[in-house]
Amino acid sequence: EKGGYEHFMLKEIFEQPRSISDCMRGRLDANRGHLVLGGLREYINKIVNADRILIVACGTSWHAGTVAEYIFEEFTRIPVEVEYASEFRYRNPIIKEGDVVIAISQSGETADTLAAIELAKSKGAIIFGVCNVVGSSIARASHAGSYTHAGPEIGVASTKAFTAQVTVLTMVALLVAHRKGSITEARYHELLTDLEQIPVKVEKALALNKQIEYIADIFKDARNFLYLGRGYNFPVALEGALKLKEISYIHAEGYPAAEMKHGPIALIDEEMPVVFIATHDSSYEKIVSNIQEVKARKGKVIAVVTEGDTLIPKMADFIIEVPATNEAIMPLISVIPLQLLSYHIAVMRGCNVDQPRNLAKSVTVE
Ligand code: M6R
Repeated sequence: EKGGYEHFMLKEIFEQPRSISDCMRGRLDANRGHLVLGGLREYINKIVNADRILIVACGTSWHAGTVAEYIFEEFTRIPVEVEYASEFRYRNPIIKEGDVVIAISQSGETADTLAAIELAKSKGAIIFGVCNVVGSSIARASHAGSYTHAGPEIGVASTKAFTAQVTVLTMVALLVAHRKGSITEARYHELLTDLEQIPVKVEKALALNKQIEYIADIFKDARNFLYLGRGYNFPVALEGALKLKEISYIHAEGYPAAEMKHGPIALIDEEMPVVFIATHDSSYEKIVSNIQEVKARKGKVIAVVTEGDTLIPKMADFIIEVPATNEAIMPLISVIPLQLLSYHIAVMRGCNVDQPRNLAKSVTVE
């Protein structure tokens, strides 16, 4: 059942070219300029006309929501708030009739996310669910939604569900932006094409497995890790840190790279591995200076960069080169090496990768 892999997590990481394709199948055809999400049809105008969008989720799904915030705001120009479902539900949140709430959940059973949408629904919000498990409670409680179609995810650490969530949310954002006229035709078509090419590029990122295993071996005994990214790669930093802590029990923190100066920089010394997600995008120059700041304090830098980068390899201790794509969908590629890094470190430390201590696959009690 593990398809020849040692763990479900590794199988699910390697399934991603396929699960991302499955998620786009029948929905996206860049050549024909075709993008359809059946579950959105009835509600698209409500989203197009929404004053704001709220996203509620927990854990990795919250990270996917944070990627979606950046994508939605850039392309649709609708303000987006991403909320931890557990905080949102107990804060007497401000919800108006007609507000759009997007709930993201792999299992569709997370207690806080379910309670958050029930609350929003009772105040007149429209709920759009992005779930993986068909017929799950959150899917049923939503007015509309799109399944991620990633297939069953068994490993407690979420991997293929994350990339499928980001894929669905990108398609929703592009549809809304196109309908709204907030994106140019040229940019819309370019993004459809780039999205369609993601599975092939994820395959290339997976081919770095051996090299990542080598890096994992060097850092497996570290006591702390810092993950830094900017812009679209900031949520990827959070996700990389979560993956490492939950399965390897190494303390890790994800931060927006520029926030480093406001505290975490004090932690940096020759013992501190810092993973930079530093692909070639609009914040490239800025992150290069953040790498220099870490090197000046003797931190060990592992950098995920775009293929062909010539500058960062001169500064970093280790580099991981991933294929280029549009910066808005880079998280679909840049997260792959981080999943593999945490996987190998956890295996080398003898941890139970598929069922880490204290964790359950779905958190059905608050
Ligand atoms: O099923 P859900 O997507 O609602 O689950 C949310 C979180 O419990 C989940 O993402 C958790 O953080 C994972 N263990 C992360 O790998």
